[in-house]
Amino acid sequence: MPRILFVSGSLRAASSATATARALMQRLEGRATTELAEIGTIPHYNADLDEPAAAAAFREAIGAADGVVFVTPEYNYSVPGVLKNAIDWASRPAYGSVFKGKPCLVMTVSGGALGGVRAQAHLKYVLGGMLAQVHPGMEVVIPQAGKKVEDGVLTDAATLDFAMAEIEGMMGANTGA
Ligand SMILES: Cc1cc2nc3c(=O)[nH]c(=O)nc-3n(C[C@H](O)[C@H](O)[C@H](O)COP(=O)(O)O)c2cc1C
Repeated sequence: MPRILFVSGSLRAASSATATARALMQRLEGRATTELAEIGTIPHYNADLDEPAAAAAFREAIGAADGVVFVTPEYNYSVPGVLKNAIDWASRPAYGSVFKGKPCLVMTVSGGALGGVRAQAHLKYVLGGMLAQVHPGMEVVIPQAGKKVEDGVLTDAATLDFAMAEIEGMMGANTGA
């Protein structure tokens, strides 16, 4: 089975981004091995440090995955710092990191009407800069995401159907699944 790593850009317990990741992981049961990355304990990037264990675990999880699905809110029109920090750790060596050629899919959530579409563009740009293979499908943006969560899981079936089609597109293009 393909291995799909989910990365949420929000650390809060009631995160709608994480709730979306959980719902998609449930839908992939039996079809893919899934894992939710732990990025909240990764220290601030500092090139003077030896790679911290949490950063190494994140880097290795990306390396082992057949595809990476980012689900993130937009913070001040861009990518949350905690997510950018994790990506920065895993991005070395430049142009030769675990992101090089890695199939990646970006989804964004917001409490407002735009679904984080600006952060989505920024994150795709960042991934492109690391030579990741950004899935070129339709944009999965989830507006008013907080209203679509019950018991820590996104429940909106139409949204999940749409998101699943993009995951299936990425898996089909890259893993034959
Ligand atoms: C620091 C901060 C900045 C935010 N900036 C934006 C923004 O630029 N655009 C937007 O649509 N929502 C913005 N929001 C609202 C988020 O979309 C909303 O809080 C969302 O639920 C966060 O995702 P989560 O539920 O996964 O934590 C911001 C929230 C925070 C905490």
